[in-house]
Amino acid sequence: MTAHIIDGKAFAEKVRAGVQANVSTLKEHHNITPGLAVIIVGEDPASEVYVRNKVKQTKEAGMNSFHFDMPADTPEADLIAKVEALNNDPAVNAILVQLPLPKHMNEAAVIEAILPEKDVDGFHVINSGLLATGGDGMVPCTPSGCLMMLKDTLGDLSGLNAIVVGRSNIVGKPVAQLLLNANCTVTIAHSRTKNLREEVLRADIVVAAVGRPEMIKGDWIKKGATVIDVGVNRIPAPEKGEGKTRLVGDVDYSAAAIHAHAITPVPGGVGPMTIACLLASTVTATCRQKGIEL
Ligand code: GUN
Repeated sequence: MTAHIIDGKAFAEKVRAGVQANVSTLKEHHNITPGLAVIIVGEDPASEVYVRNKVKQTKEAGMNSFHFDMPADTPEADLIAKVEALNNDPAVNAILVQLPLPKHMNEAAVIEAILPEKDVDGFHVINSGLLATGGDGMVPCTPSGCLMMLKDTLGDLSGLNAIVVGRSNIVGKPVAQLLLNANCTVTIAHSRTKNLREEVLRADIVVAAVGRPEMIKGDWIKKGATVIDVGVNRIPAPEKGEGKTRLVGDVDYSAAAIHAHAITPVPGGVGPMTIACLLASTVTATCRQKGIEL
């Protein structure tokens, strides 16, 4: 058996088409154009690629994009002042500060400066608290994309055993919370977990978000499980020529595909869904701020 490949690119296109339709409605019937502001501090090459894509797709969806590049040595107070100015700007409905921030900054303090209703990443403690208590806050984009793909593949997730490998605030913890909200029995595994192989083998759903290339082996996957690989790791690819690299996930894809019912590829799985969900969340934030139901 070879697994069904979950096509994140095609799914993201469908989500973006829905966003575009909603943006048109907001413009035509309410005279509102949603605005997303993205701030990047410093020159991390991976972050620059992500932000370029976010800006491009925001514009393609018909929304206003506000993009701010700040130098790596920007004082934290200046970044917070920028966030506060955007909080007070009525043309800005959603604010995203690209992470990681330079070492001299306190990420939590910067995130807490964002108005919770404009916190499109859903990282503010108010939003993580709402997610944990069943409220209607802003939901982090990558976890939201993971759940959409799981529900599309499996339908009702009730009662399924899910394991999340990784416990970051950006992916691991919120995706575990969303799985719990979808009535899964959830295990969160991390670097101190004992017998990780056995834990993964019990799972009907495996979400890998550790950031370690191909750490989850094919024979750890239960027959018929669904695998969502959030990892994006660049590794040397001497077979492509000297100095060449390629992207791999946190799961040994080809070996896992032999056991799995369905699996996301890297690239082309979770990645495209993250930006699509960011655009959808920008529309959600706008509608909530304006009291509009689409
Ligand atoms: N860096 C990596 N992923 C993310 C994300 O989802 N949001 C932000 N703001 N920064 C990130």
